[in-house]
Amino acid sequence: MHVAILGATGAVGRTMLGVLAERGLPVERLTLLASERSAGQRVEGGGREWAGEVPRPGSFRGVDFALFSAGADLSREWGPRAAEEGAVVVDNSSAWRMDPDVPLVVPEVNMAAAQHRPRGIVANPNCSTIQMVVALQALHRAGGLRRVVASTYQSVSGAGETGRDTLRRENEGEGLTLPRVAQPVEGSPFRRRIAGNVIPQIGDFDVEGWTGEERKMMDETRKIMGIPDLAVAATCVRVPVEVGHSVQVMVETERELSAEAARRALALFPGILLQGGPEAYPTPWEAAGRDAVFVGRIRKDPLIPNTLHLWVVADNLRKGAATNAVQIVQGLRGG
Ligand SMILES: NC(=O)c1ccc[n+]([C@@H]2O[C@H](COP(=O)([O-])OP(=O)(O)OC[C@H]3O[C@@H](n4cnc5c(N)ncnc54)[C@H](OP(=O)(O)O)[C@@H]3O)[C@@H](O)[C@H]2O)c1
Repeated sequence: MHVAILGATGAVGRTMLGVLAERGLPVERLTLLASERSAGQRVEGGGREWAGEVPRPGSFRGVDFALFSAGADLSREWGPRAAEEGAVVVDNSSAWRMDPDVPLVVPEVNMAAAQHRPRGIVANPNCSTIQMVVALQALHRAGGLRRVVASTYQSVSGAGETGRDTLRRENEGEGLTLPRVAQPVEGSPFRRRIAGNVIPQIGDFDVEGWTGEERKMMDETRKIMGIPDLAVAATCVRVPVEVGHSVQVMVETERELSAEAARRALALFPGILLQGGPEAYPTPWEAAGRDAVFVGRIRKDPLIPNTLHLWVVADNLRKGAATNAVQIVQGLRGG
């Protein structure tokens, strides 16, 4: 199999290389694409070193699967070209996710959707959305979903290598001037200083006050789950954690589900690692470097009928991006 990775030198691209090797996919050839900045740079993948290249017409000829993680603009430009050159594109950016001719896939939830891809592109959802819908699908099967309210605690690596670098520099004291001015360091992808802080903004605000990240969680959840009128609201928050997103989810179901019934449904669902007992809850530190969606702290709401609360954690670079994309490739190859 010939695999191309556009964005191979980035946080997600490097993780993809690792996940492809770990899962033992029979990759005979890798084409590793990045910007001019890293052209010629040696990148290790599948036990060999490959020279990074800049994408150009013909880069995707003979490629079976093209995994994209270089941002929405590059996906818009190169997605249709790669598909035209014969590759199946699995795109991590937001460029194609809501296109009606592009399936938006989380393998545990809707792998079959990936079979119908009129543009030759399959989209990988937003990182927080992926981990949330895995848990939601388990509860949907058990009790039918009526309403979802989510609050996220998202790590800095969600903003790529620059996000990680920003947290490191700010932790080292760079950019600190006045004590009450949360000015980020130069080159930060965040709107405020992130070290020692939390920022309730990921993406730009729309006229109604929702951020881009919040809209993604709301719209993408409905599309993946195939419930166009599902009531979903999200508040997305950046926290000074290096890797691993956490989501607190309130779920209202059609049918009454006890906390025990919810736990059973979650424990049996593929891809979920349920943590039992009040003290045994997952944290990003423990989820980092692992592929599962970790769920804990399942509680019944004391006042609102048919309502549960749960805590969902996953590695945003793995299940939130690279692992999900590689699982799509595995699913399309038949396992
Ligand atoms: N980080 C996450 O948790 C996460 C989760 C889900 C989805 N995503 C999505 O995945 C994509 C990449 O995210 P990331 O976190 O890996 O970002 P990143 O660490 O900033 O990496 C970006 C990659 O894109 C490449 N690139 C930038 N400009 C380019 C150009 N003009 N031509 C070719 N390659 C170019 C970079 O190459 P150079 O090294 O040469 O600059 C690098 O390999 C984004 O669309 C993001 O929304 C990220």
